[in-house]
Amino acid sequence: MPGPGMELIGEEEKRELLEVLESGYLFRYGSSDNPAFKAKVYQLEQEVTRLAGMRYGVAVNSGTSALLVALSGLGVGPGDEVIVPGYTFIASMSSIIYARAIPILAEVDRTLNLDPEDVRRKITPRTKAIMAVHMLGNPARLDELRAIADERGLLLVEDCAQAFGASYKGRWVGSIGHAGTYSFNIFKTITAGDGGMVVSNDEAAYRRFFGFHDQGHSPLRTGVEVGRRPFVGLDFRMTELTAAVLLAQLRKLGQIQARLHGNKRRLKQAIADLPGLSFREITDPEGECATLLTVILPTEEIARKIAKGLGTKVVADSGWHVYTNMEQILEKRTITPEGCPFTCPYYKGPEVKYSKGMLPQTDDLLSRAINISIGVSDPGLGSAFGVTMRDDVDVVDARAAEFRKVAQQYLR
Ligand SMILES: Cc1ncc(COP(=O)(O)O)c(C=O)c1O
Repeated sequence: MPGPGMELIGEEEKRELLEVLESGYLFRYGSSDNPAFKAKVYQLEQEVTRLAGMRYGVAVNSGTSALLVALSGLGVGPGDEVIVPGYTFIASMSSIIYARAIPILAEVDRTLNLDPEDVRRKITPRTKAIMAVHMLGNPARLDELRAIADERGLLLVEDCAQAFGASYKGRWVGSIGHAGTYSFNIFKTITAGDGGMVVSNDEAAYRRFFGFHDQGHSPLRTGVEVGRRPFVGLDFRMTELTAAVLLAQLRKLGQIQARLHGNKRRLKQAIADLPGLSFREITDPEGECATLLTVILPTEEIARKIAKGLGTKVVADSGWHVYTNMEQILEKRTITPEGCPFTCPYYKGPEVKYSKGMLPQTDDLLSRAINISIGVSDPGLGSAFGVTMRDDVDVVDARAAEFRKVAQQYLR
């Protein structure tokens, strides 16, 4: 099973969904006089923004569209550079490209998230934003990244797709930057198959997010606002069906978090004494999602042997999430031959080049790292080995023993 939320799909989701289906009204807008309109998307926006401690939220149809809405809504566009980690899902970069800005790849450190030191090195007069991605449920170094953004007058966008429900020093991820985005696809903490959300405290940004996600309209429109649309938008609206499932899933968040943290603690303790084995640095052990446990081995050779013995892969080979495996980025394969935004006349920087080996620190760490699933089994993350949400302590202990047996052959 892909992610923790998906494993708990049950009667509660069915009830929520049936309520909408039986009412027969599936669109996010409706009149409060209409008893068939259940306002599920509106309720979801209210609930998530309240939990995140934010003022505004717009539900959308995916985490990718949430990123595009956030960037465009904050005014990122032609001529701008956005600093993004080389270890992330392609959507972090593709959303920058479709906002017509340039992704500037930066190193990750032992958190496997953006390295603030490298972010500083990558800032140019064209930098508009830093995109912090909270990979594998672990918040990035948000204090440092927000300080850099404030000091240099940059925007901080948090891509929280993999960290819904995580917090950093008591605050929800997504609430520390100028905007935060979430994903509800099948691999995420809670899910409706697909879905996303963008949150912010800035009213002007919210109005732009809303308009961009719905043909330029203002928030919570009741009709078509001819003559009053400030710009051209698109349609990234969420349906009532998706929101109904997500409302039921949201009520299971506490249960999901407790289970993941318990299983992760147990598995981690059971293997922590292995010589030479270390763990990825977690910025907030209480607040992270605990969806994965990442071990870091002394050498690439040892890591590869252990991964093979476990039937999994080192993170560097895991596929989707590593810049070295993103041929469409490395070769700047844009949808039309003109090559926008890389050839955009508004872009005044030198030609942007991406290549394997351009992030040696990231390459080194990811070639020595193995992701063990605690609740996210995703071939794209290389987490084929591990446990799932439903597994009890016996399975956790068995997996730990299996890991020890394989690792002990190579660790002294
Ligand atoms: C880090 C990150 N950003 C963005 C996304 C995009 O989310 P979605 O699949 O909902 O479009 C994902 C999804 O896997 C992700 O992992």
